[in-house]
Amino acid sequence: MTNAKKFQKVMLVGDGAVGSSYAFAMMHQGLAEEFVIVDVVKERTEGDALDLEDVQAFTSPKNVYSGEYSDAKDADLVVITAGAPQKPGETRLDLVNKNLKILSTIVKPIVDSGFDGIFLIAANPVDILTYATWKFSGFPKNKVIGSGTSLDTARLRAALGKKFNVDPRNVEAYIMGEHGDSEFAAYDEATIGSKPLMTIAKENGVTKDELLKIEDETRHKAYEIINRKGATFYGVATALMRISKAILRDENAVLPVGAPLDGEYGLNDIFIGTPAVINANGIESVIEIPLSDEEKAKMAASAETLKKVTKDGLD
Ligand code: LAC
Repeated sequence: MTNAKKFQKVMLVGDGAVGSSYAFAMMHQGLAEEFVIVDVVKERTEGDALDLEDVQAFTSPKNVYSGEYSDAKDADLVVITAGAPQKPGETRLDLVNKNLKILSTIVKPIVDSGFDGIFLIAANPVDILTYATWKFSGFPKNKVIGSGTSLDTARLRAALGKKFNVDPRNVEAYIMGEHGDSEFAAYDEATIGSKPLMTIAKENGVTKDELLKIEDETRHKAYEIINRKGATFYGVATALMRISKAILRDENAVLPVGAPLDGEYGLNDIFIGTPAVINANGIESVIEIPLSDEEKAKMAASAETLKKVTKDGLD
């Protein structure tokens, strides 16, 4: 039985390409009766609010407006996309100092407003900024979620769907670990229609090298997009919309997100990409995939990468 409230309010902080695309997706989905947009460039949020008002007559009436951090007091969900995006040649981890500084100016006024909902973080390096949001806010871990490997998993499923000629929504495969260069595909546990993907690959003459090539293309897809159009936004905005829907509709949906680990995969004190059950409480539980030994080592290496940068960034 859902305990999702009838009247729901979402705050978006950061009205750049990702934030604006997310707002557009949320309006199309008719999620949240009230949608407030905050950004340092006030005119941008006012312009976007006016533009998004014009969506209502085609979708559903929503109160969308430009606001302030203080408007978070009665919000159910605050989504933070604010931060410098990757430039060509930059890794996500290269953004850590710049974006931690920006994040620290955002979380405190939101908490001071009396906000008691769920934080959803997408600014990069997202796993580290999610951890920092937990630290800066003092919120319980389950109420702080990162976009994690939700976008990467969608990229992997699209590529595998094409390879095996099936609907990507029916490919049960996950990208795990950092949303970044140390991420990996958990192929050993992947299935299509409950049949192991590795068995289907063998039956179809798809080699492990071809699968590793798909994993690598997934890992580097953002760079390919950024090199061509300067930024990525539709994929990540849709991932944020999907996670928002699971929260606002109290779905208990299993989604790959940046989740806090408390011993899972032998890891603690970290937010990292793994499947988790998402509902109105935020992260209801983490689903620990039974990784193979090789994959456990990849997860540990990815966590090590994040912990080192987190320590440097937050010290
Ligand atoms: C990407 C950004 C959102 O992977 O990190 O497209």
